[in-house]
Amino acid sequence: MDYYIDTHTHLYDEMFHDDAEDAVHRAMDAGVTRMIFPDIDSSSRRAMLDLAAKFPGHIFTGLGLHPTSVDSRWRENLEEIEGLTDSGTIAIGETGMDCYWSRDFVKEQEDAFEWQVRLACRKGLPVIIHSREATELIFNALERCRSLHPRGVFHAFSGSIETFRRMERYGDWYVGIGGVVTFKKAGIAETVKDIPLERIVLETDSPYLTPVPHRGERNESSYIPLIAEKIALQKGTSVSEVAEITTANARKLFNI
Ligand code: NI
Repeated sequence: MDYYIDTHTHLYDEMFHDDAEDAVHRAMDAGVTRMIFPDIDSSSRRAMLDLAAKFPGHIFTGLGLHPTSVDSRWRENLEEIEGLTDSGTIAIGETGMDCYWSRDFVKEQEDAFEWQVRLACRKGLPVIIHSREATELIFNALERCRSLHPRGVFHAFSGSIETFRRMERYGDWYVGIGGVVTFKKAGIAETVKDIPLERIVLETDSPYLTPVPHRGERNESSYIPLIAEKIALQKGTSVSEVAEITTANARKLFNI
C-alpha cells in the first residue's frame, strides 16, 4: 500500500462538525496516515487542537494567523500565537497574503506575514504560505527575511514555472499541489510537469478545492490518492513513486 501525507487539511472545520473523526479514519484507510492542520485564527484553534490531540502521531498542527483573519488586532493575535509555539507546533501558518478576498488590511497582512516568517525562523520551523493575488508582496517580504533562511511551502500553488524558479532563490521551498491539478484547463496541471517531484508535497485543503470526480462536494483528506494519480499521469510516472517521494518531502520539511 502507498502511504501519503496530507500537508494541508482543515478537518476541524465546521463542515465536519458531525463526522470529523470518521473523516480522519477514512483518510487513514486510504493510506493518508499523517495529516497537517494549518491554523486559521483563535475562533477555530481550540477545535483544531482538540481533534489533533485525539490522533497523536497522525495529526500535526501549525499555528498562525490566516491572511483573511488579519485586522487591526493582528499584533496581539500573533503574540498569543508565539506563546503557544513550544507545545508541539510543527509549522507557522497558515500565513501569507490574500489580495483577492479583500484589500482592506493589505498593509497589516504584509506586516503580519513578515512577523510570522521571522517567528518561524527564530523557532526553526517551516512556514505555510497562502498567496492569492499577492506574489510580488510575498516575494518582497521573503527578500527582507532572506538572511534568516526561511523555508516552507507555497500552499495551493497555482503559479507559473517562472514563479516556482523565483521561489528557489529563497532556498528550501516546496509547492503544495491539491485538487485543482485535476480540474480541466487548470494551468497547474501543465506546470506540474516541469516542477521536480522532489519539490512537491500533496494537500487537499479540505473542505475546499475538491478533486475530480468529487468536485462540487465537500473535500476530505481521503481524496489525496486522486491528486497523486493525476500528478503521476502528468509526469509519466507511477502513483507509488509520487506517494513515496512526496511523503519523504513532507516528512523532511515538517520534521515528522
Ligand atoms: Ni488552508
